[in-house]
Amino acid sequence: MLSIVVLISGTGSNLRALLEAIERSQRGDAADAAGAAPIRARIAAIGADTERANLALADEFGVPSFVVRPRDHADREAWGEALLERVREHGPDLVLLSGFMRLVPPAFVGAFAPNLLNTHPAHLPEFPGAHAVRDALAAGVTETGASIIIVDDGVDTGPVVDQVRVPIEPGDTHATLHERIKAAERRLLVDTVRGVADGTIDLDAIAAKEPTTA
Ligand code: GRF
Repeated sequence: MLSIVVLISGTGSNLRALLEAIERSQRGDAADAAGAAPIRARIAAIGADTERANLALADEFGVPSFVVRPRDHADREAWGEALLERVREHGPDLVLLSGFMRLVPPAFVGAFAPNLLNTHPAHLPEFPGAHAVRDALAAGVTETGASIIIVDDGVDTGPVVDQVRVPIEPGDTHATLHERIKAAERRLLVDTVRGVADGTIDLDAIAAKEPTTA
């Protein structure tokens, strides 16, 4: 059973999709049994960098949670050390950054990579950074996407685990486009966790390939 710690900053809708998929899988729901292999994973804990993150999800699904705020620490490295300590308490096999809106310091990356994944709302290496949806709209392109990458020390530069294209429709706003992307991200996230858990996705092998460049 793959043990996962998920870090979030916001609403956690991607995380909710994962929690629900794992729950359905554990119940052996007919809908899942017909379509997809079981997800041999559990969410060991949910962490956040702000108390504004939706940690109610943790209570709803009976998962422990913690908050490690940058403002309680002298600098980014000290915050990263504290975060690392809290994550390690749960002994995860995999750490997921799912809408976690901060760069984790190199010591954190070094402690978990390649078992440290990030979901990103664009088809990397296109539109890296914190404003990927806005940047895709501003670029006037007709499609963007969603990606899951192994985190490295760059900004959205790590090896791509999986990604999918998402069309940009005429009249799309930031909200409508982001919602369409997030629907794709949720599927990618669930499929990636399933694959890592059952061994069909080999993160060591993917990490050994050349990283993407932004
Ligand atoms: C996702 O699109 C994620 O890739 C981005 O922020 C969004 C998080 O949404 N960086 P949620 O918190 O899962 O609802």
